[in-house]
Amino acid sequence: MTDTFAKLYTQSAAGLEWVPAEMFALPEGCEYKIFKDDGGDGLRAVMVRFPPGYVEPEHQHAMEHWGIVIEGEMHVDGKKLGPGDFHFAPANVLHGPFYYPKGCIVFGTTHSFQPDGMRHDYTAEAAQADPRDIEVSAAGA
Ligand SMILES: [Fe+2]
Repeated sequence: MTDTFAKLYTQSAAGLEWVPAEMFALPEGCEYKIFKDDGGDGLRAVMVRFPPGYVEPEHQHAMEHWGIVIEGEMHVDGKKLGPGDFHFAPANVLHGPFYYPKGCIVFGTTHSFQPDGMRHDYTAEAAQADPRDIEVSAAGA
């Protein structure tokens, strides 16, 4: 693991390509830019782009993540998150589904607690869930 916090580090978003988010083992369609990756059980700072209508099934993983919506809309837990709104998901706790009706870009960090902590575990039943009819309200405390 590299000590990424030993010195000042910068990375332009424009200097990174959007690539398929295979590392998350999520349904096809989302893409990411990795700003920083310590690998394995380390820290990551990523920007993830979800296409309009994308559904991230209810899932869990051995990492925690927090995210801030940069643009678009993210529906989670009956709430509608917009630019500047925040979510946090602890490790090994079921969360979701997340729904992105208009598409969305989220910046977030992850901290894995196991080398394969990025792997998302979700059931076939969860993959078929349709959150489009869940009523949402504005994000709150
Ligand atoms: Fe998650």
